[in-house]
Amino acid sequence: MTTKMAINAKDIFRNQHRLIRFIAQSIRLCSNQSLKAAQAAQQLQQQKSTADFQITASVDAQHTSAPEPVKHDKDLGHQFRASQLSVRLAAPEQLQPKPDNDEELGFGRLFTDHMLKIYYHKSLGGWQRPEITPMENLVMHPAAKVLHYAVELFEGMKAYRGVDGKIRIFRPDMNMNRMNLAAQRSGLPTFEGKEFVQCLSRLLTIDSEWVPHTDTASLYIRPTLIGIDPTLGVASSDSALLYAILSPVGSYFKTGSSGAVSLLADPSYVRAWPGGVGNRKMGSNYAPTINVQKEAAARGLQQVLWLYGEDHQLTEVGTMNIFMFYVNDQGEQELVTPPLSGLILPGITRDSILRMTRQWGKFKVTEANITMPMVCELLNQGRLLELFGAGTACVVSPVNRINYLGQDLYIPTMEQEKPVHELIRETLTDIQYGRVDHPWSIVID
Ligand SMILES: Cc1ncc(COP(=O)(O)O)c(C=O)c1O
Repeated sequence: MTTKMAINAKDIFRNQHRLIRFIAQSIRLCSNQSLKAAQAAQQLQQQKSTADFQITASVDAQHTSAPEPVKHDKDLGHQFRASQLSVRLAAPEQLQPKPDNDEELGFGRLFTDHMLKIYYHKSLGGWQRPEITPMENLVMHPAAKVLHYAVELFEGMKAYRGVDGKIRIFRPDMNMNRMNLAAQRSGLPTFEGKEFVQCLSRLLTIDSEWVPHTDTASLYIRPTLIGIDPTLGVASSDSALLYAILSPVGSYFKTGSSGAVSLLADPSYVRAWPGGVGNRKMGSNYAPTINVQKEAAARGLQQVLWLYGEDHQLTEVGTMNIFMFYVNDQGEQELVTPPLSGLILPGITRDSILRMTRQWGKFKVTEANITMPMVCELLNQGRLLELFGAGTACVVSPVNRINYLGQDLYIPTMEQEKPVHELIRETLTDIQYGRVDHPWSIVID
């Protein structure tokens, strides 16, 4: 079956018989799954008892390649410089309410005392001086492009308080690059990522007491770029605002009692498509997912597994990249994640996992399409070991159940003796919280 999506009614009718055959085949494959799963998990446990996962937290710095460079538009005007940063501190009455307890932070509900703002006005020669101000509301014209055409993009980063008390951020160059690629695609001005990270570091220093003193919470950083041109034309924005706000966060997901999440995999919803912007972190990608997420919740499921194409390829899980650990046709253990085909976000956690597991050399690591029929078949044969999402918000999030075409598929992610997703989580958090020194972790002075 081709992976090309049938996009018009004619194609849908022409392919209807193939689709029905495919769905029937998938249901057949899945129906045996629950019965066989327990048996297979037991068999597999015996087969892999010799596997050795004594992996150290060290990751070779040489594996850190420079991100794809962004070329600035030559009509952009001048760039901003961190050396020109001005600071206006919050007055006592402008200070934000502090959380009583790190355990109850939730996600993105509280914000720190200050924010970073950098305006761009083409008519004034380009980027203006960066400024740190008290956390305050924005004022903009009702015709601002962001409000009409979602001329907006953002990033998600974190500041961690290390075991040595120092504050660290993780691979910020990758976030800056991804932001600039999204700016290019949105008709927004690009900027020097290094200068922005320096301004951000100053903001973090000023609000440093907001970085939780624990390794189970962190300070979420939300850099955002919006088009504020007060004109209704669908065109590049000649004025923009680049800003960053900070929010102390605990755990992103409310997981089930096992610590794993359940997923709704409904092929009638699509998150991204070829030639679209699924690989860019733009606000316009996220609003259409909210109702589907609500539907998942109504069915007692925690996240959405986004499928694509007639063969029901797994693309992303909620706002995370997806990984599967399984036994391949050659009997080898293999970690696989979908390739960067344009449909998925080039996650920084994804990239870090690929680099470090390739360096471990303990199992095969590949970037290849994963389809739902493949998942069903591997489950039937007891060869699917783990399925997990990966992203900044949660590092890794194990999956224990997928509801697909009305069937519950039970994934034995939490039943493994030495789960790979746990090793990955430990290794990454060791780097992020400074338990090991690593060039991916940047200390804020
Ligand atoms: C759709 C989507 N996929 C994947 C990710 C994970 O990316 P990262 O590892 O850079 O946080 C995110 C989060 O930013 C996301 O929104």
